[in-house]
Amino acid sequence: MDKVVVKVANVSKHFGEGEKKVRALKEVDLHAEEGQILMIVGPSGSGKTTLISIIAGTLKPDTGSVNVFQNELENMSEEDITFFRKENVGFIFQQFNLIPTLTVLENVSIPLLLNDAPKEVAEERARHVLEKVGLKGREDEKPQKLSGGQQQRVAIARALVHEPKLVICDEPTAALDAETGNKIMGLISEMVKQPGRLAIIVTHDSRIFKFADKIAKMDDGVCTLE
Ligand SMILES: Nc1ncnc2c1ncn2[C@@H]1O[C@H](COP(=O)(O)OP(=O)(O)O)[C@@H](O)[C@H]1O
Ligand SMILES: [Mg+2]
Repeated sequence: MDKVVVKVANVSKHFGEGEKKVRALKEVDLHAEEGQILMIVGPSGSGKTTLISIIAGTLKPDTGSVNVFQNELENMSEEDITFFRKENVGFIFQQFNLIPTLTVLENVSIPLLLNDAPKEVAEERARHVLEKVGLKGREDEKPQKLSGGQQQRVAIARALVHEPKLVICDEPTAALDAETGNKIMGLISEMVKQPGRLAIIVTHDSRIFKFADKIAKMDDGVCTLE
């Protein structure tokens, strides 16, 4: 069986036009297999966020193809891509994107509610995952009451709660102390051991490189797989 479940082929993406044109991705090829943690490293502005947004289907490439779990994203409607993402992808954004008017527990329950879980089931599962990321007792608070590192852990709990097949993270551990960072990476490592799962992690944090099965380097829109 083919273990490659994420395949990016010849993907280019630019922003702006004329003098302001930026070539964010230049003919990028990349693949990742199930059971793996793929890390993407590279300087700021090298195209990392653009690349993972294209893999998650939130951004369309100019050219090239992206295949994720047999879905040819370039041939899918917006509606189908939204459904695909809701089912298969847990995304941890660099800016957390927590909803300020909802409690921690409600924020973490969202992916389950979007996938039609009953509220009680969703909240019980959310409590369990919050405990795993070390936030037991903070369920009823609003996110802005928490520190940056704690908010990051809420975002991580939200990305893992519906057990998506693909977890994509943009700098998940940058704001965390070493012990919490290791704990979060432990959770992600545990997750990718289950059949059909994988994680793609953008990071500058050399403390977590040891968790990588494979490292891709980005530089000025060019991606090199080690
Ligand atoms: N929405 C956008 N509009 C214009 N330029 C963008 C946009 N998103 C990214 N860029 C540019 O594309 C390049 C790659 O950005 P990005 O993928 O965010 O890099 P990284 O995540 O590695 O820091 C940068 O030059 C950035 O300024
Ligand atoms: Mg970025």
